[in-house]
Amino acid sequence: SAHAAKDAQGVLTIAGHRVTDLAREYGSPLYLFDVEDFRARAREAVGAFAAAFERVGTSSRTYYAGKAFLTVAVAQMAAAEGLGIDTCSLGELLLARRAGVDPQLVGLHGNSKSDEEIELALQWGIGRIVVDSLQEIDRLEAAAARLGVRARVMIRVTAGVEAHTHDFIATAHEDQKFGLSLQSGAAAEAAARVIAADHLDLIGLHSHIGSQIFDASGFEVAARRIVALRAQLRRRHGVELEELDLGGGLGMRYTSQDTPPPLPEMAEKLADAVAKECADAGDPLPVLSFEPGRSLIGPAMCTLYRVGTVKPVETDHGVRTYVSVDGGMSDNVRTALYDADYSCTLASRTSDAAPAVVRVVGRHCESGDIVVRDEYLPADVAPGDLVAVPGTGAYCQPLSSNYNMAPRPGVLAVRESAVEWMVRPETLDDLFARDCGPLA
Ligand code: LLP
Repeated sequence: SAHAAKDAQGVLTIAGHRVTDLAREYGSPLYLFDVEDFRARAREAVGAFAAAFERVGTSSRTYYAGKAFLTVAVAQMAAAEGLGIDTCSLGELLLARRAGVDPQLVGLHGNSKSDEEIELALQWGIGRIVVDSLQEIDRLEAAAARLGVRARVMIRVTAGVEAHTHDFIATAHEDQKFGLSLQSGAAAEAAARVIAADHLDLIGLHSHIGSQIFDASGFEVAARRIVALRAQLRRRHGVELEELDLGGGLGMRYTSQDTPPPLPEMAEKLADAVAKECADAGDPLPVLSFEPGRSLIGPAMCTLYRVGTVKPVETDHGVRTYVSVDGGMSDNVRTALYDADYSCTLASRTSDAAPAVVRVVGRHCESGDIVVRDEYLPADVAPGDLVAVPGTGAYCQPLSSNYNMAPRPGVLAVRESAVEWMVRPETLDDLFARDCGPLA
């Protein structure tokens, strides 16, 4: 994160706080949240999209995708920086409400929304419900009629673009559970159904093409296609949809292999693509919205672990050093789940020892419990040392588990002026509290 640095003793500091002190006082493993880093990224995103879309003559909205990591404080900081909140569950919706977020700036996603989610969304009056099926449209209309309210609806369109990191394959990704297909006509049918419904207002179209994307071209293709659908809906139904949402998915840097493009550059390309497509269709420009999660929160956190054991293991290719730490797949399952790459650094001291390739592993009962697959650490890395893994702000804490009855780590919010819990660590009592004891 932006305020991470090493001091003269080789100790990692976050906003001036030594992680050795933090670990002593707050324990480990520990998620460390660089507050000002997140705020700056949120501000930059809003600014970059605003500048790019204002240049072509329209405006933009940015929604923080809460699934990446959400707390009351995060929702409030995002709102203070001018972002809305994108939610996809009752819990996320209720959290946004608790945080005092303006419901007009809240969106709800989900391919299997519950009655409670729909009801809360309607009663609270959120700005947009993104529908994912024809059945959901009927349920929404019935619920809105019953509650006597109108719902602002977007259609989640499957634009036929599959984006994975650097490349994308056009028309490839029809066979998946999200959205309504552009190609089959399901998206147009859904739009017609929303337009015809008495209590629903169709405000726009939505496309989300994937995550950890470095290349604007997948977004551009999707944008052109949903602009074309918007033009078709205008011709067919005489409606002018006010907003197009291109989803989230902007990539971040995990290791030196990752080179995300500067956000302003990406935003400029998308603004140009949308402006050109609208001009060609003879349509006015829509408001463009985005739902980044990872790119805003991911770089703002690191995870601090304490080394438990160091073990040389003979392999076919020589000796591999396994460095076992006090956390693992229960606080970061992304390596096991997605083969994700992370890096790490010795965070508690300097060392004159030569660098050695090590594998940092967790303490869980699975050989796939890898924290960092390959990394250079000083060869004298030893039990008691602290190791920090950067870039763990997105999808680590939300995907964390109690595997092997591990209490989940807390999230410590670190600023120059203050260090405070944002999420307190789980205790063993928390874990045992849900166990109902002996059977009758
Ligand atoms: N909008 C929608 C509709 C989404 O489905 C997602 C992410 C986002 C926005 C935010 O995307 P982001 O900017 O964070 O890439 N657990 C996986 C990532 C799952 C992404 C799910 N959808 C991981 O850890 O890589």
